[in-house]
Amino acid sequence: MDVSISPVSAADVDAIAALARVVWQHTYPGIISQEQIDYMLAQRYQPQLVLQELQMPHIWWDQLTIDGQLAGFVSCLLGTTAGEMKLDKLYVDPDRQRLGIGARLVDQVVARALAAGCGTLILAVNKNNERAIAAYLRQGFTVRESVCVDIGSGFVMDDFIMARSLPAGTAGS
Ligand SMILES: CC(C)(COP(=O)(O)OP(=O)(O)OC[C@H]1O[C@@H](n2cnc3c(N)ncnc32)[C@H](O)[C@@H]1OP(=O)(O)O)[C@@H](O)C(=O)NCCC(=O)NCCS
Repeated sequence: MDVSISPVSAADVDAIAALARVVWQHTYPGIISQEQIDYMLAQRYQPQLVLQELQMPHIWWDQLTIDGQLAGFVSCLLGTTAGEMKLDKLYVDPDRQRLGIGARLVDQVVARALAAGCGTLILAVNKNNERAIAAYLRQGFTVRESVCVDIGSGFVMDDFIMARSLPAGTAGS
């Protein structure tokens, strides 16, 4: 079995958007409405937007493939607070969850954060996304604050902000 992590390229964007749809439909019904799922997917995975992000020096997209097949992806970006990297997206194929893929992708972001000189990793997770919260707690994150952000069209993101300190040399641990 060949497991590899590599930067997402323009040729991968359609497969990334398709996997996002599969994971969201597996995860978010019961947490947010179908209308909000459709709205947020359309906002975040327009090919043009993802292609633009792939060009940006402060945003990184990485994918994990198993025998050449996309199994998960992650994106991270330098936020507005100096020294903080935001883990922006983390999605693993429902058929491949609980196999350590999410942990490997978080390790990849830790490595990117350390390379960028960041000492803290942060993320936002829906307060009712219990499985993801369990995974993040296992990865060393703790809840820092509770927020409710208006994202337009009558929708809100009712999230916990979670944070993890990155003492130098923790990548991959
Ligand atoms: C959250 C997510 C990325 C985790 O990825 P994963 O590959 O399944 O996680 P891992 O196999 O690396 O799990 C590592 C540890 O986290 C914890 N964990 C992961 N998923 C869990 C779950 N569903 N319930 C409880 N604990 C969980 C466990 O301790 C696990 O170790 P173990 O399997 O040895 O017990 C994945 O479940 C996912 O894509 N979920 C849907 C999308 C999503 O919610 N993304 C986050 C948006 S903020």
